[in-house]
Amino acid sequence: MTVLIAPSILSADFAVLGDAIAAVQRGGADLIHVDVMDGHFVPNITVGPPVVESIKRVARVPLDVHLMITDPDRYIDAFAEAGAAMMSVHVEVLPHLHRTVHAIKALGVKAGVVLNPSTPVVALEQMAADVDYVLVMSVNPGFGGQTFIPRSESKVREVRALLDRAGNSGLVEIDGGIDADTAPRVVAAGARILVAGSAIFHTPDPERATRELKAAAQSALASPTAR
Ligand code: DX5
Ligand code: ZN
Repeated sequence: MTVLIAPSILSADFAVLGDAIAAVQRGGADLIHVDVMDGHFVPNITVGPPVVESIKRVARVPLDVHLMITDPDRYIDAFAEAGAAMMSVHVEVLPHLHRTVHAIKALGVKAGVVLNPSTPVVALEQMAADVDYVLVMSVNPGFGGQTFIPRSESKVREVRALLDRAGNSGLVEIDGGIDADTAPRVVAAGARILVAGSAIFHTPDPERATRELKAAAQSALASPTAR
């Protein structure tokens, strides 16, 4: 088992997005994480399906689309068509989460469910066998460059245990404040997809930062506390 690195383009320069994606791919990025924000569910506004479609044309790795929007049901078809390989939706906005997750899967896209820092793991209990992956937010969504919330470490362990009890080998993803210090800790807790924005793109060399983050994450797999 390896750890997948998903650079978040939120912290990249949108004027040269193609170059940013090429750099992290050279550094070993496994996925490209695209943060979709609507100015309602979160205060910030980012990109929609046309930008995902353009990214899809230049990316060599799958697109991991994180929907931070109040009404994901209205847009999942459009993001699937634009080229999302993975799509995650927030449990906080979906009273019919079961229907949404299965609608995403029916489009041939991997379906993930996201938990905000204040959302308890139990919110996922009835969906543990259905999801393809779970994204644990380790900051409050909306912006890059925030500080990792330490409680997220034990939350990753709880989510991993919940999936294991359901017989689901789907991966736990983590997003927010991931860098070379926090990466080994969350990997030891069971996270296997690490999203990182500022730790990669707010450095002089995003290619190298991707490579170093991956090495830091992989080092925790060898440690005795890693699952
Ligand atoms: C935050 C987004 C993240 C963000 C992470 O709402 O979901 O993907 O880009 O940024 P860093 O890695 O800087 O915390
Ligand atoms: Zn994200």
